Amino acid sequence: MRIKAAVAVEKGKLEMQELELGTPQLGEVLVKVEACGVCHTDTSTLNLEVPSPLPMVLGHEAVGIVEELGPGVRSLKKGDHVILSFPSCGCCENCLSGKPYACETSSELFFNGIYPAGGTRIKNDAGQDVGSLFGQGGFADHCIVSERNAVKVDPEVDLKPLCSLACGAQTGAGAVLNLMKPRPGDSIVVFGCGAVGISAIMAAKIAGCGTVIGVDAVPSRLELALECGATHVINGKECPDIPAEVARLTGGKGARFALESSGAAVLVKPMLMSLGKEGRAVVVSFVGGDVDMNLTMLFVGSCRSLEGTVEGAANPQTFIPRLVQFYKEGKFPVDKLVTYYPFAEIDKAFAESHSGKAIKPILVF
Ligand SMILES: NC(=O)c1ccc[n+]([C@@H]2O[C@H](COP(=O)([O-])OP(=O)(O)OC[C@H]3O[C@@H](n4cnc5c(N)ncnc54)[C@H](O)[C@@H]3O)[C@@H](O)[C@H]2O)c1
Ligand SMILES: [Zn+2]
Ligand SMILES: [Zn+2]
Repeated sequence: MRIKAAVAVEKGKLEMQELELGTPQLGEVLVKVEACGVCHTDTSTLNLEVPSPLPMVLGHEAVGIVEELGPGVRSLKKGDHVILSFPSCGCCENCLSGKPYACETSSELFFNGIYPAGGTRIKNDAGQDVGSLFGQGGFADHCIVSERNAVKVDPEVDLKPLCSLACGAQTGAGAVLNLMKPRPGDSIVVFGCGAVGISAIMAAKIAGCGTVIGVDAVPSRLELALECGATHVINGKECPDIPAEVARLTGGKGARFALESSGAAVLVKPMLMSLGKEGRAVVVSFVGGDVDMNLTMLFVGSCRSLEGTVEGAANPQTFIPRLVQFYKEGKFPVDKLVTYYPFAEIDKAFAESHSGKAIKPILVF
C-alpha cells in the first residue's frame, strides 16, 4: 500500500515522501497510526549520532489501531488499540528471561531499520529499501510492527496523549520503578526535566519518595516539574554548586538516587557528587561527550554506584498497561507534557522540541 512518511534521507535531512509499504510477515501487524510522539532519539538518529543506514522512516512512539494481521499473530486482533514500543527478538537469553530491553540484538533492531523476522518492509519509488526505526517507523500514516512491539490497551482510553508511554515516559518511570525501586521517603534528584525526567518525577511521587528534586535550565520546565511531583527545583545554569544545594535540601545527606536525563556531559559529575552514601545513579540519556572522573574519589569511599539502562528496564507488555492505569487514576499525567502538531508540521515539532518550547511534541495523523 502507499503511505506518506517522514524519511531521514541523509544526515540532518528529513523529507516527506510517498512510499510503498509491504505486507506484515510472520508475527507482524499492520497498524493505522493515529499519532506519534517525537523523542530526542529521533533527532539523535537523524543526526547519525547513532550510526544508522539511511533512508529510514523515523518515529518510535506511535499509537494506533491494528488493521491487518500477518501469519502467526496470536496476541492481537483487528481493531485492537495499541501503543507501539521498542522491538526485541524474543529468542535470546535476555528476552527469554523477561528482559527484552537487554535483547542481544537490540542495537540492530533499534537502529538498523530491520525487523526481528528479517529485512525491511518499505521501498521508495527508486526501488531502494527503506528502514523503519525501532522496527516501527511511526512517522507514517501506516506502519508494520512485530506483535512484540505492540501493546494492546483499553479501547476506552484516548491514546493520543499517551504516545510517550512507548519510549520516553516508559524510560523515565521505568528507571525509577523498575531499577531504583525507592522506599517511601527516599530522596531523588532528576537531572533534565524533559519528557523522560518529568516522567521519572511522576514515578518518584507514585513510589512515595520524600524529597524529589528536578534540575533543568528552562524555567517553564522547572515549573512543570513542581506541578508533576517535584518538591524542589534547581536551575542548573544559575546554581553555582548543585551538589551543595542537593545536600542542603536532603538534610546534609545527599540524595539516595539520581537520574541523568539531560544529555549534558557537564552534569554527570555534579550528579554523582549529589549522591549520599550508597547513593545510586542511573543514566538514561545519550550523554553528549566524554566525562573525566576520578573513580576512587567518586565511588569507593562513598559506596556509590552508576548504571545505564535502555527503556527503563521495562517489559512493555506488562509495564505500559500499568502506566495506563496510573494515567487513568490521575497519578501519571503525561498529557501535561504534550503539544500537538499536524503531521505536515513535523519540522516545527522538531524545532520546538529543540528550543525547549515543546516537551513532548505529538504528531497527529
Ligand atoms: N535510554 C533510553 O532508553 C532512552 C529512551 C528515551 C530517551 N532517551 C534519552 O534520554 C534523554 C532525555 O530525553 P528527553 O526526551 O526527556 O529529552 P529533552 O531534550 O526533552 O530533555 C532534556 C532536558 O535537559 C535539560 N538540559 C540539557 N542540558 C542542560 C544543562 N546543561 N543544565 C540543565 N538542564 C539541561 C533540557 O533543558 C531539557 O529539559 C535524551 O538523551 C534521549 O535521547 C534514552
Ligand atoms: Zn532478544
Ligand atoms: Zn525514544
